[in-house]
Amino acid sequence: MDREVIKLDYSKMKVPNHLAIIVDGNGRWATKQGLSRSDGHKEGFVNLMRVLKYAYSKDIKYVSAYLFSTENFKRSKVEVDFIMGLLTGKLDDILNFCHSEKIKAIFSGRRKNLSNKVISVIEKIEDETKDYENRVFNICFNYGGRAEIVDATRKITLDIDNGKLDINSLNEEIFSKYLYQDLPPVDLMIRTSGEQRLSNFMLWQCSYAEFYFPKVYFPDFNENEFDKAILEYTKRDRRFGGIDYENKSN
Ligand code: IPE
Ligand code: IPE
Ligand code: MG
Repeated sequence: MDREVIKLDYSKMKVPNHLAIIVDGNGRWATKQGLSRSDGHKEGFVNLMRVLKYAYSKDIKYVSAYLFSTENFKRSKVEVDFIMGLLTGKLDDILNFCHSEKIKAIFSGRRKNLSNKVISVIEKIEDETKDYENRVFNICFNYGGRAEIVDATRKITLDIDNGKLDINSLNEEIFSKYLYQDLPPVDLMIRTSGEQRLSNFMLWQCSYAEFYFPKVYFPDFNENEFDKAILEYTKRDRRFGGIDYENKSN
């Protein structure tokens, strides 16, 4: 593991407005130390709260976290049940955290395959935190980027049929509003554990995101690892298809 410790002066840095995190490596983290995969998910949850607290303290406004994909239903029933139970069992912790940090928590994902218990927890979290404005935590749960685009297309088609939307006015901005949540584009996408793929995460929103792939498993993704990610982000030259004419090297 790269243990280099860095010190960042955040007051001088442009941090991402929207940070997306693919929480990956919980299982391998646990297996490496002889624990069960469930222990890895438990530890991942504790670390997620820690990472979020740090991210918002550095003025990041939006954080999206990928916690369960539509494809993760392929895993054993024991593991799936454990992750579902983690969300419902940690309801009070999540609410306390959101209230103390003044965070609006929202969910992205398909609700129809989730149990009534999970859905009621999701609705409670969203309802209790809906009035917070400055910090948003987008919890991607039973989420798939392709499913999101298909679901948006279905809603658009219905609105066209109902006469609520004129097909000629459909553009990228309007399309975005039909996604699970109306969020700004992702600026920085971090995936822990060394895997370098999106695994169906925020395909639309990551179109111009910078990607960063630290090797550490998510439970080891601490504040120093976070600082390294932000430092790397600040060094990227984001051109969005244009050319920076001010920069003499161009
Ligand atoms: C991330 O950790 C959490 C979920 C996908 C639910 P993993 O469970 O994917 O951990 P690894 O990748 O198997 O180590
Ligand atoms: C992606 O991780 C999903 C989440 C982190 C929730 P996976 O561990 O499921 O992805 P693959 O199977 O390695 O692509
Ligand atoms: Mg994984």
